Amino acid sequence: MPKAYVFTRYGGPEAEALVERDRPSPGPGEVLVAVRAAGVNPVDWKQRTGYRRPGGDARPLPAVFGNEVAGVVVETGADVTGFAVGDEVFGNPVDGGYAEFALLPVAVTAHKPAALSFTDAATLPVAAATAYDGVRQLGLPAGATLLVTGAGGGVGVAALQIARDAGLRGIGVASEGKKDFVESLGAVHVPSGPGLAERLRAAAPAGVDGVFDLVGGETLEDAATVLEDPAKLITGADRETVAKLGGSPVERARTAAVLDEVGRLAAEGGLRPFVTRTFPLERAGEALRAVEDGHARGKIVIEVAA
Ligand SMILES: NC(=O)c1ccc[n+]([C@@H]2O[C@H](COP(=O)([O-])OP(=O)(O)OC[C@H]3O[C@@H](n4cnc5c(N)ncnc54)[C@H](OP(=O)(O)O)[C@@H]3O)[C@@H](O)[C@H]2O)c1
Repeated sequence: MPKAYVFTRYGGPEAEALVERDRPSPGPGEVLVAVRAAGVNPVDWKQRTGYRRPGGDARPLPAVFGNEVAGVVVETGADVTGFAVGDEVFGNPVDGGYAEFALLPVAVTAHKPAALSFTDAATLPVAAATAYDGVRQLGLPAGATLLVTGAGGGVGVAALQIARDAGLRGIGVASEGKKDFVESLGAVHVPSGPGLAERLRAAAPAGVDGVFDLVGGETLEDAATVLEDPAKLITGADRETVAKLGGSPVERARTAAVLDEVGRLAAEGGLRPFVTRTFPLERAGEALRAVEDGHARGKIVIEVAA
């Protein structure tokens, strides 16, 4: 039977297990995909703790981990047009992705450009698409300055590149060890940690035109001090603090059109996924721990044997 990495109750890593389960069947508007790669995101372990998206429910148990995959279509459900068995695709699975098979609603599925590996394509549906949505939401003109916190992580790395592609000047807040990494993305690096507000004032004496926060808390508060217009303050990490500061959470489009766009950017070289570590499905727990420790560099991906 096909394998999947699941959590069996809400809690810590002890709730995780590699299990065998029946191959899922695609419902209307869904395709069944043989997974080749699954991106690992902070929301994956947060869901294990019982996290709910605003207005949503916690994942029903047992739940397969994962919210972004790339793979090959092996079956199509009713009412599916535009996708056929054998197509190479990537998207947001409806019921987990750390598995040999995953169900993708076609509304959030795109064809994988041939120039992209499955591993790289699996980083796009959550991290890169969030970065794309955020940069678009801010709507800054070319030449404006965008400050990104958590700049060395999955979303931040994509945000700085998408900003650069849009002609924006990037400032990236990240730990000292990620200085070269952030600078390689064409951004000015500002070290994170105590005293951030002063360092930001020194790096951007005239202030910044937008802030895309991916850390929250004090980092978000410090970043807001160099921004004049709170409408240009967004976060993927901390709804409470951003509301207090007059900003807003990143608005996710969650459409196939955005996936097509980030796929095109990645295939054309404007968006490098920077997969820094890969793990086989059997070691999915280690992949999760590497993200759960909060200091991932670029993206971590689970590769599933064909
Ligand atoms: N709303 C949405 O749809 C959505 C989608 C995707 C992600 N998110 C959220 O956005 C956040 C970032 O996601 P991600 O995938 O980019 O995560 P990630 O890959 O784990 O990166 C997070 C980055 O934050 C930095 N960081 C951690 N603690 C920090 C601290 N105390 N001070 C300063 N920097 C710190 C780390 O960099 P250093 O090692 O340099 O400290 C790390 O590179 C998460 O909270 C995630 O849940 C939301």
